[in-house]
This record gives sequence, structure tokens and C-alpha cells, in this order.
Amino acid sequence: MELSTSTPFSFILFGASGNLAKLKIYPALYTLALKKRLPEQYSIIGYARTEMDEAAFRSLVAASIRADMIEVNESLLQEFLSHVHYQSGQYDKLEDFTVLQERLNVIEKACSTSTDCVRLGYLSIPPTVFTQVIRNICASGVRGKAGSFRCIVEKPVGHDLQSFEAIRTTLMECFEEKEIYLLDHYLGKEAVRNLYYLRFANPILERLLKNTLIHHIEVTASESLGLEGRAGYFDEAGTLRDYIQSHILAMTAMLTMRLENEHGFRESRQNALEQFYLPPAVHLNDVILQGQYGAGKIGNEHERPYSEEEGVKEGSRTNTYIALKLMTRISRWEGVPFYVRAGKRLSKRETRITIQFQETHPVGKGSFPNRLDIILQGEAGMRLHLQTKISGTEPAFRPLIMEDPLVCVGDCLPEHGILLLEAIHGKQQWFLSFAEVHAAWRLIDPLQAHISHPTTPLHLYSAGSNGPKESDEWMKREGTEWF
Ligand code: BG6
Repeated sequence: MELSTSTPFSFILFGASGNLAKLKIYPALYTLALKKRLPEQYSIIGYARTEMDEAAFRSLVAASIRADMIEVNESLLQEFLSHVHYQSGQYDKLEDFTVLQERLNVIEKACSTSTDCVRLGYLSIPPTVFTQVIRNICASGVRGKAGSFRCIVEKPVGHDLQSFEAIRTTLMECFEEKEIYLLDHYLGKEAVRNLYYLRFANPILERLLKNTLIHHIEVTASESLGLEGRAGYFDEAGTLRDYIQSHILAMTAMLTMRLENEHGFRESRQNALEQFYLPPAVHLNDVILQGQYGAGKIGNEHERPYSEEEGVKEGSRTNTYIALKLMTRISRWEGVPFYVRAGKRLSKRETRITIQFQETHPVGKGSFPNRLDIILQGEAGMRLHLQTKISGTEPAFRPLIMEDPLVCVGDCLPEHGILLLEAIHGKQQWFLSFAEVHAAWRLIDPLQAHISHPTTPLHLYSAGSNGPKESDEWMKREGTEWF
């Protein structure tokens, strides 16, 4: 169902007292309200197991918005809070969802029947209750009429290919595919989206992105943060499932996908993801390397080792760092290695794609191969590393760096804000398709099986470093180095 600004709209958040809700979703909804981007008649209904009254819930929402925003418009915040409601209930009790449905009908008084409204259900819930919640949404009538509901599911969708397939089956028993929105918040980041538009808008750049000119690609996602109280989830997942499976693959696919118009866009990104493969190697250890952080210092802070983080199981071999080599079958990239890495508790926060060009002929003293850095997070910017001759009789060279800080100019929305807006309006382009998630797990599963094996090395690195020294040695063996 198309949503016009006058269609009444309800946002139902399952897991309303959770971390993600407080950190990302309430601030994003407030920003959309502030910018008048929500439909005129909107309601926000939190659903969670925690017993609390509406006033307490509104205070929780207000506190999370205040914690996130530099400046809060108090009268607008109060107006926003008047749209916010709360309903407590169990995830496995159909009766509680029936009460929610009745409550929604009262809140959505502008609709003649609930089916005339657009409802969006955001699932920010543990995997253990996922199936029950989906079934109850449908059985209780919360879903409403086919086509008027949007169901948002956060990455990672599943734990492996098999659990993903089970989730897909559960979702498809209840919803039509066009009602399902698989969210990877990296696809809501302006800088990540811009990867596509930089190519689209700059034919000269697009011409450089060819295997005949490129030596290799590096994709680095380094975080200085650690677990942030999420050991329960992360200790089961690890960086390969948590970060590489979705964020890194989605970003890299944005670089390698064929440029298509809006209609073919999602299929093209999906195709790019499906074309990644593991290079032939004698041993999987030549393709993937894992690490775990030990104690160390970041800035002035002493950080404890992963093994001593609250909630981490004793003797945990969970990876907090992964380096991986990928190739793609897309013809223009054939033969170009993609070295990707992601890790927690590293020296700094930076998400960067570096395109290292070939040095086609020896240049001279002080020279280095050309390269292009696209820094998506951290000190965001784009840097083209060229070189220029130093004056004098001999040909010697110094770097010439052309750069632009890729700061947000225009309608800047937080990543969850832009994705929510698109889901509200029924646009799926920037959400993952089932086929993309399937392709990602197909690639990741054998790697996960390999690194989970007790004989596969897990390299320790100090918090605040750039990762395990074995990762640098691995790159050296590959004939290159991390930038
Ligand atoms: C999440 C991961 O999807 O992305 C986290 O679960 C990670 O482990 C986070 O820290 C990084 O997101 P951002 O937006 O801070 O780069």
C-alpha cells in the first residue's frame, strides 16, 4: 500500500526497552519528526516485556534522545512524545498481541478500520523469540491487511545459512516478500551510498576501476570500541558473522556492482554479492585469519582483554578481528584481490576503501604507486594519492594528494532515519534481499566452520594496536601491506 502524507501511520517497536532502540531508533524517529518527514498522523508504540507505564516509557524515549542529540527542541520533543505509547507483553503470548492489536485500533482512531493504516513493525528482539513474535503478529491481526504492513528485521539475519533459511520460511509464512525489510544500517550511511554515486557521477573514476589498472583493493573497518555490553550476542557471533557477513560484503558489493538505474539496482548489488568467491589456496589459513584482543591502552584508557569482558564465556575463542581475501567473478574485476579486515578495540575508528593502482613502469626516487582512499567513517574523506617531481636536475618525486572531506552536505539524516523513511514509503532498494543474505551466508559458512575449529590459530593482539602481527605478515606473504 502506498503511503501518502495523510495516511495514518503506526510504528511498532518490538524490543522497545533494548539498547538499539535507545541508541539509534528513538533519536532517528525524533530527527524525522523534527524535519517533518513523518506522516502527519503518526503513532509510535513500544512493545516489550518490561512492565512500565506510558509516562515512564516516554521518559526513557526522551532520555535516549537527549543523550544522542547535541541540541533538543523542547517543545518539539514534547509534541513528539505525545505520539509515543507503550504496551508491555510477553513475546510468546498470543493474548498479549491481541491486547496490542486492540490498543492499536484505539490509538489509530483516525482509521475507519485498522487496515486503512500503514503499520511498520520493527523487530529489535533476541533470535530466541523471533519465530513466536512473527507468528503472533500475524495471528493477532497486528499485521492488518496484506500489503499495508512493513516488517523490519535487523542484520545478522540468522547465525548461518540453515538458521537464515528457517527465518526466511517463518517470515514468508506470515508476510509477502514486499512487506519484509532486511536492514543493514550500513546501507543507510550516506558515505556508503555515495560509493555508488561517486562512480555513477564520475565517468573518469569509473574508467579507472578496472583490473588492468588495479593492483588490489583494501577494505578496512576498524573500531576502537569493544563489546559495549553486548557479550551475550557477540560472544556467539564474532566479527566474521557480526561485521564481515553483512557490512563488509554490502560495502564491497557497492564498489563492484554494475551501475544500473533504480529498477535494476537491487538485483545488480545482489549479483555483485553472489560473485564473490574465495581464491584457490592450499589451505584456508591462507585466505582467512582471526584474532582476539588482549589487554591494552586506547588513548588514556586501559582496556581489559576480551576474555575478561563481562559476559564472555570462559576460554572463549570468539574472533574480534578478521582478515580475509576475496575475489569476484565480475569480469572487470577479474584477478583483483580484495583484502578485507574488520576488528574491535583497534587503534582508531576508521572505515576505508583503498584502491591501490598498479605501477606500470618504474617512476623514480621517492615514488610510490597511485592510490585512492575513500574514507567512509572516522576522518571521512576522499584522497587521491598522486606524485609530482621535486625541482632539480634529477627526477625525484614527492606526494601530491588531492582530497576532499566527504562531509554530509544537504539533507543529512542518521542511517536509521533514512532507512526508516524509505521503509515507511515502501521502498526496498536499500534493504537486503533474501538472495543477498543467502549468498553472504553461503560464502561465510565454510569460513566460520574453519575458524571455529579448535586447531585453527586465534591470534592475540593488544587493544589499541592495528591488529595481530600475523595479519601484517600474511599481507607481506601476499606481496603487499595494509595501509
Ligand atoms: C553493528 C555490529 O551491526 O555495527 C557492531 O553489530 C558494530 O558490533 C556496529 O560495532 C558498527 O556500526 P557503526 O555504525 O558504529 O560503524
